[in-house]
Amino acid sequence: MKIILIGFMGSGKSTISRLLGEKLNFKALDTDDLVEKKSGMTTAEIFDKHGETRYRELEIDVSRELKNIQNHIIATGGGVILNSVIIDYLKMNNGIVIFLKTSFKEIVRRVSKHKRPRPLFKNSVQAEKLYEFRLPIYEEYSDFIIKTDNKEINAIADEIIFKIKQ
Ligand code: S3P
Repeated sequence: MKIILIGFMGSGKSTISRLLGEKLNFKALDTDDLVEKKSGMTTAEIFDKHGETRYRELEIDVSRELKNIQNHIIATGGGVILNSVIIDYLKMNNGIVIFLKTSFKEIVRRVSKHKRPRPLFKNSVQAEKLYEFRLPIYEEYSDFIIKTDNKEINAIADEIIFKIKQ
């Protein structure tokens, strides 16, 4: 089995993937980290020097390499849902897709706390438009939706485990 966490920037995918990994004794991977490793550049550098299209191509390459992986939790970049082929690769061989649904208000709070540069979150007006556009796509691709507002990460991880064991 592999568990794929999708959701907007700041929805807690990476943090929750690590905790889930500990609880389930699965390894946690993050497509953002894999893209950076593969390209030898930071996300910001890829966007600055080669543009979003190059970033998306790298995401496709990385997800293809993950298609046969088992017993992993995969935290994804917020834009993976823009290419259905990525979701197809990630879902291959028993991939369960979980959408971490967080309100935009909560996203803004979390993103402003984290120093990590996010090329597509330069200002909240633009980011909210992106959020509204993507929301139905996250929902469409998910097997389960987990709301994260006002929940401790431990409770969120336990809720995910409960859902996948049902
Ligand atoms: C992106 C989200 C980022 C990263 C890149 C693009 C997006 O990942 O992949 O900056 O399009 O939403 P996080 O969701 O982990 O911040």
